[in-house]
Amino acid sequence: MNLTIVGTGYVGLVTGTCFAEMGNTVTCVDIDNKKIENLRQGIIPIYEPGLEAMVLRNVDNRTLLFSTQLKECLESCDMAFIAVGTPMGEDGSADLKYVLDVAAEIGRHMSHPLIIVDKSTVPVGTADKVKEVIQQELEKRGKDIEFHVVSNPEFLKEGDAISDFMKPDRVVVGTEDKETAEKMRQLYSPFFRSSMDRMLVMDVRSAEMTKYVANAMLATKISFMNEVANICELVGADVNKVRIGIGSDSRIGYSFIYPGSGYGGSCFPKDVKALKKTAELHGYSAQLLHAVEDVNDRQKFVVANKVVNYFGENLEGKTFAVWGLSFKPGTDDMREAPSIYIIKKLTALGAKIKAYDPKAIHEAKEFYLKDVGNIEYVSSKYEALKDADALLLLTEWKEFRSPDFKSLKENLKTPIIFDGRNQYDGERLKNLGFTYHQIGKE
Ligand code: UDX
Repeated sequence: MNLTIVGTGYVGLVTGTCFAEMGNTVTCVDIDNKKIENLRQGIIPIYEPGLEAMVLRNVDNRTLLFSTQLKECLESCDMAFIAVGTPMGEDGSADLKYVLDVAAEIGRHMSHPLIIVDKSTVPVGTADKVKEVIQQELEKRGKDIEFHVVSNPEFLKEGDAISDFMKPDRVVVGTEDKETAEKMRQLYSPFFRSSMDRMLVMDVRSAEMTKYVANAMLATKISFMNEVANICELVGADVNKVRIGIGSDSRIGYSFIYPGSGYGGSCFPKDVKALKKTAELHGYSAQLLHAVEDVNDRQKFVVANKVVNYFGENLEGKTFAVWGLSFKPGTDDMREAPSIYIIKKLTALGAKIKAYDPKAIHEAKEFYLKDVGNIEYVSSKYEALKDADALLLLTEWKEFRSPDFKSLKENLKTPIIFDGRNQYDGERLKNLGFTYHQIGKE
């Protein structure tokens, strides 16, 4: 198929590249000239494992093209995907400005029957709005061209986006039109080698809702477990054991019940807020979602609070090594990362930070921790430890999983570890002479 993907952000770029990889001809469109120019030269604006090689391969094959001209692309395509950003508005709802701008542009230029696919994460009712905007533009032009607006939310995890797209758990398609559903089935069938049962066709509003509910459910599991962790600490239980104890119940399962420093990233915080807002707009107060957010806001400070409990309120003269800045491993993304909150709090109390992250130092320096003065970025995990009063592990990158504890102890001024991701065996560390603080175990 010939596809146009509007928006070359995270979702658009991964979607376009994976469709190209499956043999479609894809043009990714963006209004940002510089970005498009860079992409044509193989310069990728984000870090995502496997993406760069796949982009380069498909650019070479001429199956992946980049353009700033939506009008031209619409002339030859079978489907146009809207994959532009839906930033959080001031009131917590998703800002649809970019989505509706693209819809208007499509309406102004489409010249033949088209399937328009909402790939951006959008609140319930957006497909209807997109339809309305396109219809209005067509009417202004005096044109009567058939089109269908489909909701096809993405469920990509940063760091695993390529494999999530190439081997999806499920593909959700919201459309009430049989022919459109069939076309979507054709597009996605190469991604399902065994069975098409995982292609779930439903009405548009349910598809839109599914995306928010999936993320809100996962965020709820995490906040629930973080709350349990905090209670475990108070009652002298070990959340690591409790986690295994409950996960072994097949109705509960092991995934997404790891306590930590709170969820971050571009999706969970934004989507929980947006779902809460949608409910509110319909006169419903979503109590549970409120609590999920509250617990998460508090959890981001747990490691900082443990440091303060141990060293006191005045941290002048103290230096802390930080391992990990990104909101999770496998990405340079620092949006809503717990590290931001922890580092800001500790430096405000006078501490000095020596930070190391395999990928996110640039993001930290240029954006998220730009205003924090008392921070030194170093290029290896052991370098961060020199003369530090304690180590704070904030992102569970694989390279932190089994460090050389001997050299860790030699480098640190005092052998103290605050682990915001429960990566180590407390008993072992105790035997090695460390003071080890973790989440959910006294
Ligand atoms: C998430 C969804 O998983 C994905 O389906 C959706 O499309 C976008 O949002 P992502 O934000 O990339 O993906 O990260 P994910 O791996 O889901 O982790 C989200 C956050 O939850 C991270 O901050 C992570 O540290 C935290 N987390 C995850 C926990 O604290 N505990 C867990 O058990 C799992």
